[in-house]
Amino acid sequence: MPEVLTTIPALRDRVGAARLSGRSIGFVPTMGALHAGHKRLIDLARSECDLVIVSIFVNPLQFDRQDDLERYPRTLDADVALCSASGVDVVFAPSSLEMYPSPPVCVVDVGRVADHLCGRFRPGHFRGVATVVMKLFEITQPDRAYFGEKDAQQLAVIRHLVSDLNVPVEIVGVPTVREADGLALSSRNQRLQPGERRVATVLYEALKDAQARIAAGEREAARVTAAAREMIERQPAVKLEYLEIVDPLDMQPVARIDGPVVAAGAIWVGGVRLIDNVICVPP
Ligand code: PAJ
Repeated sequence: MPEVLTTIPALRDRVGAARLSGRSIGFVPTMGALHAGHKRLIDLARSECDLVIVSIFVNPLQFDRQDDLERYPRTLDADVALCSASGVDVVFAPSSLEMYPSPPVCVVDVGRVADHLCGRFRPGHFRGVATVVMKLFEITQPDRAYFGEKDAQQLAVIRHLVSDLNVPVEIVGVPTVREADGLALSSRNQRLQPGERRVATVLYEALKDAQARIAAGEREAARVTAAAREMIERQPAVKLEYLEIVDPLDMQPVARIDGPVVAAGAIWVGGVRLIDNVICVPP
């Protein structure tokens, strides 16, 4: 069983002891409701680091909607069991009060990398992510930290965070884990009704269509996105939020495709918001 620590001083003690004995620290930040996507990150950390720490914290600072924060699944016992089965050493599960004894005055501002995609539709979201990840890095002092490519814009924000602020952490990106029909695993999938679950795959299908068009030589991003958007709009139970082709590093829209790009989208199925992305490489 992993040690489950809920206070910052207790975690600092544990990290300090590991550092003194020269052990490398791998860190997987999560908001819990762990699934096989998270497990992929944990398994990689386990295979590369001596001490593996998983944090479970539903970070209020990154939620732009109160109802989303309240409805976010909280399944600590099952999460600890998954961590235990995966050989995790320490689960850090602080309360909101432990992380934010008072509303923070200093936060990490995120520039243009948050201008498009999710950043456009979720004001303050990436500032909340960057701030909590910076705090978690300060608390856990990892050598390596693991993030999913499923949240491509989040991964780009974190890569800028560590390079702009000289944070001595190696960021490891991990490919997206999917269901057999292509749906990216997400804690929010649990909230889909059976009929919604069936149509939710349309986002990945549209992104694969974009990927295929680019691989076949289409260079005009507008033509690629028009076709992909149309596929989604044909599905009456699904509402498209965005579908864009962006640069993989700075997440800015690309008009002409001359190198690898990311096709990324967000949809609403019933009351559930789903995101996904694929890397597209021109011939
Ligand atoms: P959460 O949504 O719990 O995700 C934790 C990590 O798991 C993220 O790096 C995410 O990209 C990765 N992940 C989720 N689903 C995945 C999948 N299907 N395949 C591969 N990786 C997947 O992302 C967050 O939490 C938070 O924003 C956090 C970074 C913890 C800051 O609060």
